[in-house]
Amino acid sequence: MTLLEQIDKERMPKHVAIIMDGNGRWAKAKGLPRTAGHAEGVERVKEITAEATRLGIKFLTLYAFSTENWNRPAPEIEALMTLLIDHLEEETFMKNNVRLLTIGEFGKLPPKVQERVQACIDHTANNTRMTMVVALSYSSRWELTETMRHMAQEVKEGRLQPEDITEQTISEHLQTNFMPDPDLLIRTGGELRISNYLLWQAAYTEFYFTNTYWPDFREESLHQAILDFQGRQRRFGKTGEQVEEEKGK
Ligand code: FPP
Repeated sequence: MTLLEQIDKERMPKHVAIIMDGNGRWAKAKGLPRTAGHAEGVERVKEITAEATRLGIKFLTLYAFSTENWNRPAPEIEALMTLLIDHLEEETFMKNNVRLLTIGEFGKLPPKVQERVQACIDHTANNTRMTMVVALSYSSRWELTETMRHMAQEVKEGRLQPEDITEQTISEHLQTNFMPDPDLLIRTGGELRISNYLLWQAAYTEFYFTNTYWPDFREESLHQAILDFQGRQRRFGKTGEQVEEEKGK
């Protein structure tokens, strides 16, 4: 049986988030410039997005550019921005019925990137099969800081009472309020950390780490990650016995 055949289509993660790491090291190992790794990484973005759509995943959130990535050498930042402009093709989104959204500090992106991304967001707004969320100039601490600032302002203006603030209120004020929390978070490239990604949202997310560099992460790699996820028991703080009992009800 192939990996794909082993996947239980009834127990698909609804939201998969990915930290696409290892582009630079992939390129270096081949004696290529780092930007060649990013270019190959874009091919995997297309492949994995198409496969996630086919599998029935509803949200795919890709960490494409972190707040901290602004500290990289200018030519590398420029290459990444150019890749974004060149590869956000409305046609592919429309063909696959995929909606594009972004999270992050949109206003910090170069105007040309903002225009291209916004056009694609507008064009795909009514697509329903899957939502692809690209994290651009995103970091979770930035998002949480913004959220706290907004909530403090609402309290100051008397529109929000401190005693009414619940976990749900906070989730609703986050930039990610349109998406469910991720069920599965995949990090490629061998590092075992979360790198300021979806810190609040990942409270009960299952983590999958692989040494595979992002440019080598193929459809089968996604199947493997989903199979691994399906082999786990999600307890959300309860006992294994409680979870089994609830499943039987
Ligand atoms: C991490 O590898 C990768 C990035 C910082 C960029 C990922 C972005 C893309 C693949 C482009 C996204 C494009 C679209 C269309 C959404 P790294 O450079 O940190 O690799 P290293 O750890 O080996 O140095």
